[in-house]
Amino acid sequence: MDIDVAVSAEWEALRERLLHGPPWRTLMVAGPVNAGKTTLARWLAAQVNEHYRTLFLDADPGQSLVGPPTTLALSRVPIDPDRWLRLRFVGHISPEGHLLQMLSGLVRLVEAARWHRAQRLVIDLPGHMANDAGRELFFQMLDVIRPDYVVALQREDELEPVLRCFRRGRRPRIVRLPVAEAVQERDRWVRSDYRRERFRRYFAGARLRRLSVQARGLHGMVPALDNPEAVRHRLVALCDRHGFARVLGIVARCDAELAWLYFWAPPFRAREIATIQFGRFRLDPAEVGLVTRRRPPAGDVPLRTDVAEE
Ligand SMILES: Nc1ncnc2c1ncn2[C@@H]1O[C@H](COP(=O)(O)OP(=O)(O)OP(=O)(O)O)[C@@H](O)[C@H]1O
Ligand SMILES: [Mg+2]
Repeated sequence: MDIDVAVSAEWEALRERLLHGPPWRTLMVAGPVNAGKTTLARWLAAQVNEHYRTLFLDADPGQSLVGPPTTLALSRVPIDPDRWLRLRFVGHISPEGHLLQMLSGLVRLVEAARWHRAQRLVIDLPGHMANDAGRELFFQMLDVIRPDYVVALQREDELEPVLRCFRRGRRPRIVRLPVAEAVQERDRWVRSDYRRERFRRYFAGARLRRLSVQARGLHGMVPALDNPEAVRHRLVALCDRHGFARVLGIVARCDAELAWLYFWAPPFRAREIATIQFGRFRLDPAEVGLVTRRRPPAGDVPLRTDVAEE
């Protein structure tokens, strides 16, 4: 864990409660953007992991700590940002417009944490959106997961409209904490640089590959495949039969018969891919260090045979 994290007396008290208080399984850290959620969630996970087998669920598809942006990831502790146990594709860097994928991803990864025999699970939520969609997403996440604890980081009372809905229940227990003074404000440029860097790392070993679309199910925000403009540079996840993303790809094009999808992706095993999930997000391959021609070639491009061809 980074040594420059400022640990307040409130954080220490929370750690004591989590280690010596009533047993629990799931804890969510919530708060507005730039509230210190990820720092606190990561610190708590490291502390609790000294005593219990703890997993970390990065539920933020934008400023992802683990895995590429647009995904939710289940990770071991200590956290390695480039390794994960399971990955779910949301399809965008913001939950807005992808609320179902956010919720279902969260549920499936919490389920996966049980399967991985986590004794404790710490969930880092995306920055709370103070609009109807954001409030409803937060409500639904709490309602469907029913965590034992919600740690609410607030500058004022940003989360209260939703927390109020759970006042009469036994779960979640709500721990309110102020935003730490050490939190550094990061503007949109810093945030977008961070995402670009995460994508670059992810696509560092990517090549142009192809996969049969006819042999697989398509889901998510599926565009008209016969419209080159609609498919170009869309981010897709190639998912296994359990619905977890095995690999992400940046779409180049579909062939004229709509039989093959061409995309840049790191290596993967084609036979493990059951479905192709589309997101709305587009990523320029050149922006993440993949050299491309201005126009995709009309005919078949030469492909390496050690990759996902079938
Ligand atoms: N307790 C702390 N001690 C030192 N630095 C901190 C602390 N909390 C947060 N920071 C710093 O403030 C910045 C923002 O923190 P963090 O990423 O945890 O916030 P966040 O709420 O997860 O943000 P986002 O909404 O983007 O997900 C980071 O650079 C982090 O290192
Ligand atoms: Mg964060």
